[in-house]
Amino acid sequence: MEGTSHCLIFLIFLLSCSTDPVLPVRLTVSPSRSQFFLYEPVILTCEDENRSDGWTVRRNTSREIRNRCGDGFGNLAGSTCSISYLYPSDTGLYWCESMSGSSSSSSSIQLSVSGGSVILQSPVLPVMEGDDVTLSCRAKNQTHNLPAAFYKDGSFIGDETTGNKILNSVKKSDEGLYKCNVKGHGESPSSRISVKEKPPTTSPPSSSSSSSEKLSNISDSTVTPGPGSSSVSLPVLLPSASLCVLVFLFLLVQLVVYLYSKPKVMKEEEERMTSLPETSGCSRGNRRKANQEQEML
Ligand SMILES: *[C@@H]1O[C@H](CO)[C@@H](O)[C@H](O)[C@H]1NC(C)=O
Repeated sequence: MEGTSHCLIFLIFLLSCSTDPVLPVRLTVSPSRSQFFLYEPVILTCEDENRSDGWTVRRNTSREIRNRCGDGFGNLAGSTCSISYLYPSDTGLYWCESMSGSSSSSSSIQLSVSGGSVILQSPVLPVMEGDDVTLSCRAKNQTHNLPAAFYKDGSFIGDETTGNKILNSVKKSDEGLYKCNVKGHGESPSSRISVKEKPPTTSPPSSSSSSSEKLSNISDSTVTPGPGSSSVSLPVLLPSASLCVLVFLFLLVQLVVYLYSKPKVMKEEEERMTSLPETSGCSRGNRRKANQEQEML
């Protein structure tokens, strides 16, 4: 009987692990950059895998804390927050949060609105190690990019006549605060570039049950938040996935302990069963149950 219930818990657990336990919510920015000119529009969207509503955009600025979209800034429609005209005072950290309150939220991203006439166009989301990243220095009301100087963490890293600086095959060490300067036009605000490490290429597990594959896929696609704050994937998935693995191991140990240290009362019965072929714990338990029922009749 005990074996059967163990098996049942085990199976229920496997099923619950294979259905995604917690969906991550992401904040996306359109146009996809972190710096804006005065009066430009921006659309911020909270996305989870269900495309469900129930998310709201919040922000921290130098003036307010946890300000909610539709309540002092922007217009909220569903889980989309639109700001028609950006001002320098809109500079701040933006993130998604469930309407109900604190239950879950996305990582935050930094948006900067320049009061001046130069912005740096850089990726707003973390970039993958090995990717090429283009930094584009734009001056207001210019159809073509002008020659620009680029800076990383305050240090000059090069002039580009095209106004575009390409970072080839970025490494973790390329992370930092970038800005640019166009002679006669001014300097851009600074924006952080975050580089996320490439997940190690693992060979598929030899005992490939569908749920264990799914688990490893989940942890591969989970973004590890960098030291900057522009990482956008929700980190709650990782704890829940590792909890899954812990419970899995615990139940496995329980099962093994049960199978190898049976009470003496069952020894007789075990001897009668030796003719049966060795099978998995689950079918053994079921067979034993069937045996017991036969005896009862
Ligand atoms: C917003 O500001 C509050 C108060 O300083 C802080 O506790 C919170 O962590 C900030 N949120 C983000 C996403 O940084």
